[in-house]
Amino acid sequence: MHRAFRRSVPRSVCRGAGMPSPGPEAAAHAYDRVVSTRVDYDGEGLDEADLAATPLEQIRRWVEDASARHTAAGDVPEPLALSLATVDADGAPNVRTVLMRFLDERGPGFVTALTSTKGREIAGNPRVAAALVWPSMFRAIRFRGVAHEVSREEVEQYFDTRPYGSRISAWTSRQSEPIASRAALEAAYEEYAARWPELGAAGEVPVPDFWGGYRIVPDEVEFWGGRRNRLHDRIVLSRIGPGTLADAGAWRVHRRQP
Ligand SMILES: Cc1cc2nc3c(=O)[nH]c(=O)nc-3n(C[C@H](O)[C@H](O)[C@H](O)COP(=O)(O)O)c2cc1C
Repeated sequence: MHRAFRRSVPRSVCRGAGMPSPGPEAAAHAYDRVVSTRVDYDGEGLDEADLAATPLEQIRRWVEDASARHTAAGDVPEPLALSLATVDADGAPNVRTVLMRFLDERGPGFVTALTSTKGREIAGNPRVAAALVWPSMFRAIRFRGVAHEVSREEVEQYFDTRPYGSRISAWTSRQSEPIASRAALEAAYEEYAARWPELGAAGEVPVPDFWGGYRIVPDEVEFWGGRRNRLHDRIVLSRIGPGTLADAGAWRVHRRQP
């Protein structure tokens, strides 16, 4: 059963407990102010001369910078958040966020339910696009490529590093399918937790067969650096031959207008 959004989300959650609700006019005014806010980007950008020796090194460099910034300044709350776009059977795009859990010379990867909407869409059309975006650093990396399922061995290795609760929730969630209520989801969690109690032993919770991961093998990688007056840098690496992200010769470097 669908309920109206207004009724199902308490005001205190949307606005912060105790805050008075503005009238509709004041709210519209505040919204106008928000959408007209302008931030001039004054990031360092990226120069062709400063590119790392291989695409993989350059990706790692920016991911490490974002991770260091997360620790030092706290304004990159999730350095590994990766927006992932797929298309459905009608060619209509879909986008959601996942966490980049793998990164090697083959490309970035993530874990998920293989039976989810994204899993079904990838099965129908493995071409995907993805982006790591770090607004506070005026940086983003875009990927276009093909999603390949991560091997069972890699998935199992990764699964064992997840906290117990996350391993149980992988069993609990039939990701993307409807469920009657929050209570039903929590009851399912308790059932799986009772089936595999936490003992602290390796492999105590098996990997669900409907759960796994995908790696994006890119044919284009773009490094975007926000700069002053919207004159941003866009350094694009396009695949020109066989090879991985660790083979400089497999990629052509060019610059696109912002
Ligand atoms: C910061 C963040 C990280 C997320 N990480 C993952 C993830 O690693 N894997 C995943 O399946 N879903 C993740 N999600 C949830 C997805 O965005 C999405 O709701 C879910 O995968 C279902 O997508 P689908 O129905 O299009 O398949 C994350 C969401 C956010 C906001």
